[in-house]
Amino acid sequence: MHLLKNFAQLLTGVGFVALSTFGTMAQAQTATKPNVVILATGGTIAGAGASALNSATYAAAKVPVDKLLAGLPELANVANVRGEQVAQIASESFNNETLMVLGKRVSALVKQADVDGIVVTHGTDTLEETAYFLNLVIRTSKPIVVVGSMRPGTALSADGALNLFDAVSVAASKDAMGKGVLVTMNDEINSGRDVVKLVNIKTEAFKSQWGPLGMVVEGNNYWFRAPVKRHTAQSEFNIDEFSTLAPVEIVYGYGNVSTTATDAVGKSGIKALIHAGTGNGSVAATMVPALQAIRAQGIQVIRSSRVPAGFVLRNAEQPDDKYDWVVAHDLNPQKARILAAVALTKTSDSKELQRIFWQY
Ligand code: DGL
Repeated sequence: MHLLKNFAQLLTGVGFVALSTFGTMAQAQTATKPNVVILATGGTIAGAGASALNSATYAAAKVPVDKLLAGLPELANVANVRGEQVAQIASESFNNETLMVLGKRVSALVKQADVDGIVVTHGTDTLEETAYFLNLVIRTSKPIVVVGSMRPGTALSADGALNLFDAVSVAASKDAMGKGVLVTMNDEINSGRDVVKLVNIKTEAFKSQWGPLGMVVEGNNYWFRAPVKRHTAQSEFNIDEFSTLAPVEIVYGYGNVSTTATDAVGKSGIKALIHAGTGNGSVAATMVPALQAIRAQGIQVIRSSRVPAGFVLRNAEQPDDKYDWVVAHDLNPQKARILAAVALTKTSDSKELQRIFWQY
C-alpha cells in the first residue's frame, strides 16, 4: 500500500524530483549498479483516475516520467535510473513518426557506454507494435524492455508500479541480453515479437501464443526459452539507415464483406496492404479480384488472419504463388503491418518479402 501512497501523493502534485542524471535524490549513483534509461511515452502507466476505485475510468498519459520514477524509490535497489519524456500520448494515437522518434532515441542511447539497458513505458493498446518495431530495427544486445499497465497508478491494486519495477530489473540484468526486445507485464517476460494484448480489461492482458520467455519475481529472472526468430543485433534492418516508414494499411475480412474499403485503401498511396482474413487468412471470392488489382499496381498484398492464434500457410486455400501474394505466417495483422513497413525500407520484391516474413 505504501507504493500507492507514494504514487498518489506524487500525483496530487506534492512535489516531484526531476532526475537529470542517473540515481535518485535519495540514493547517490553507484558504480556497481547498472544504468537504465526510462523513455516514457504515455499510456495508462502514466494515467490518473479521480479515485482509487477508478481502475477502468481514467485519463491516460497524464503523469510525467519524473513523477513516475519518484513514486517508485525501490527502483534504486536494482539500477541507477533516469527518465526522458519522449511523448505523452495514449498509445492508440501512436503513428510512424512517433515510432521513428522513439526508435532513433533508443538507438542513440544503446550506443552509449554508460547505458546498460532501456525501458520504454507505453500505452498497452499498441504496445505490441512498438515492441516488435524496436525488435526489428535496434542493433544492440543490451536489454530493451517495453512496459505498460492496465490500471492507472491511482487505482486500488494498480499494476503499473510492479510492472515498471520488473521492467527496470530485467533491463538491468545481464541474462536479459541478446534475447531481443522484451515485455514485462503481470510477472511474465514475453518476447516483443510474439506478445499481443489478448484481453482488454484484465491485468493479465498480454500473452504470446508460443508462451512467455520467462518470469520475473522479486527482481529475479526465471528463463524457460529464448527467441529463434531474427532480432536486434542479428537483424538486417537498422533504424540508423532510414528515416521514414512506408504507408501500409490493414483491411478486415468477414462475412458479407464488400470491396469498398479495400478499393479505397488501394488508391491511398500505400506500398503494401495487410489482409486480415478469416480462418487461415482466407479471402472472400468477391475480394480476390480487388486484391489482384491492387497487386497489379505494384502494391504488395500480405495475407494475415483475424484469428488470434495459429499461422497462415502459403498456397493453402489461396494460390499465393499464382497471385504473387505474401503470407504473414504467425504475425497478427498489426504486427504484419510493422514488419512490412520495415521490410519495405530494404526491398519491394515479393519473394524477398516472403523470406523476411519467414525469418522475422
Ligand atoms: N489509451 C490506452 C493506451 O494508451 C490505455 C490502455 C493502457 O495504456 O493500458 O494504450
